[in-house]
Amino acid sequence: MLMNMKDLLAVAYKHQFAVGSFNVANSEFVRVIIESAEEKNAPAIIQIHPNEVELLGDDFITYVRESCRNAKVPMVIHLDHGGSVEDVMRAIRNGFTSVMIDASHASFEDNIAISKEVVKLAHSVNVSVEAELGTIGSNEGSSEGGADVILYTDVDDAKTFVEQTGIDTLAIAIGTSHGQYKHDRQPELKLDLLAEINKNVDIPLVLHGGSDNKDEEISQTYLHGVSKINLSTDMKNAFFKEMRRFLIENDTAYEPDMIMPSARKAAQEVVKKKMDLFNSTNQAHHYFS
Ligand code: 13P
Ligand code: ZN
Repeated sequence: MLMNMKDLLAVAYKHQFAVGSFNVANSEFVRVIIESAEEKNAPAIIQIHPNEVELLGDDFITYVRESCRNAKVPMVIHLDHGGSVEDVMRAIRNGFTSVMIDASHASFEDNIAISKEVVKLAHSVNVSVEAELGTIGSNEGSSEGGADVILYTDVDDAKTFVEQTGIDTLAIAIGTSHGQYKHDRQPELKLDLLAEINKNVDIPLVLHGGSDNKDEEISQTYLHGVSKINLSTDMKNAFFKEMRRFLIENDTAYEPDMIMPSARKAAQEVVKKKMDLFNSTNQAHHYFS
């Protein structure tokens, strides 16, 4: 079942769970996510970053839409970190049901202006909008990027930003970074700040950089308004680590149906564990009653 983000997250927000939003860069990942979601009876989001759209091509989204429509659980197709109105319009034309406009690097006023413009465009065709306030950190190797220094989201700014833009979900900066942390740079999430933002903002919150954090911290976030957790690195790492192992051990292998299954299984194990951690396992029934 294909939905927009506003409807998907309203249920998660009310029942205090977070829906995993997983980045895809090929059809293997689409299957990993949908099969995991169906096995876990969990709603899920397939998100695609502009870099990934470049890699895949526009026609690929038709396949993603068809797969989501046929899924037995609620699904959303979301543009991750749209950088411009052009990125957003391309996504809408391709059939995404949700878009992110990330103008978090711009001034507060410019961020409001561009997010507001995107809301007007996207809402006119029933597409949901996520915007970001504050900055997510960046670790080496992640194509999602981010900032060298994390600027934590300010509570009063968040309130003003949501009121003035009319966005459906807000991505907040509470200490996470994209990618995998170096051992000397472990994250510490500011859960007090999250609770304060949640008290002042009445829409679902989004946590970026969901990989490689402490499980004890992640499992607190959906109790304080986080209804969507973005996850890319942990899943992709598991997939390619297993593929690397397989190819080294089977160095003449060339048939995809020999090479892909074990990598897909490794990624699926990670995705299913995250669905348990986010408390989205067995929550699909809320959408059908
Ligand atoms: P990770 O790669 O750290 O899981 O972050 C994903 C993300 O936030 C995509 O927007
Ligand atoms: Zn992100």
